[in-house]
Amino acid sequence: MTSASLVPAPVTARVPAKVNLELLVGPRLDDGYHALSTVFQAVSLYDDVTVAAAEEWGVSVHGPLAHGVPENADNLAMRAARLVDARFDVEPVHISIRKGIPVAGGMAGGSADAAATLVALDHLWELGLDREELEELASQLGSDVPFLVAGGTAVGSGRGELLAPVLARGTYHWVFALAEGGLPTPAVYAECDRLRGSTPVPDPVANPALMSALRSGDPHELAPQLANDLQDAALSLRPDLGEVLSAGMEYGALGGIVSGSGPTTAFLVEDNEAGIDLAVALTASGVVRDVRRASGPVHGAHVIHHRVD
Ligand code: C5P
Repeated sequence: MTSASLVPAPVTARVPAKVNLELLVGPRLDDGYHALSTVFQAVSLYDDVTVAAAEEWGVSVHGPLAHGVPENADNLAMRAARLVDARFDVEPVHISIRKGIPVAGGMAGGSADAAATLVALDHLWELGLDREELEELASQLGSDVPFLVAGGTAVGSGRGELLAPVLARGTYHWVFALAEGGLPTPAVYAECDRLRGSTPVPDPVANPALMSALRSGDPHELAPQLANDLQDAALSLRPDLGEVLSAGMEYGALGGIVSGSGPTTAFLVEDNEAGIDLAVALTASGVVRDVRRASGPVHGAHVIHHRVD
């Protein structure tokens, strides 16, 4: 930068976490990935990602949940920035991430940061990317990244990155039980393969009963349709999560599942009040380290602060 007046003001994008209402895992593909059919919902736990013009590329991570997130080129936000640079030859930025999404928790925190970085850089460098171009870049960074750009409720197929919107009514209330430590996603998929052995696995197809429950807007209809093919694998690696699921159901959740590849567990509750009651009961039980309440669906990655001096 030659003149201070040419330096654009920093841009912050806010991005939600996701929960998979249904995660159906098909056969393992030749590249090691799995064919998926999944229904994503964006929920109101957020990371804020700020990009600021800088002398060199860099990333820092802040907040009580920041522990364990790499502050180097491995960070998915940094990979997103380098992808934008490779495509558009932009100036370097420093990326600052404030984490409100559990790390390595099965809620797509890293993917969320990549999605927010794309949206923030588009704004900072006035790239004029449309939704399709953003989602195309996102799909190169990970299976969940396009959904975190889109938000709302959507079906993901392929590796999870091919999105189609879903008609969903109402707002759903969730309690998330955070777990000690993380579960690496590849290890959970590998355990799923191991448990399945040589049993043939059909191509996954979204469950019409789940779609109809989402159209009803009634959490009582949605609860019995929640499904996660990675749950057995997550429980096999982390048997303690079984106790958390039982406790959540005992204390009044309508439905409970492992979130994505875990180890966060997700409980659907009737309304906001029920969420407060469940959060208190789970915390008091001592079975759970920490809880978060959230609702969905919410918007995908979006700019929240753009100061014009
Ligand atoms: O796409 P992403 O990088 O988020 O995926 C992380 C890991 O999860 C992959 O390396 C792979 O082991 C596993 N995965 C999979 N099939 C998918 C999506 C992810 O096996 N459809």
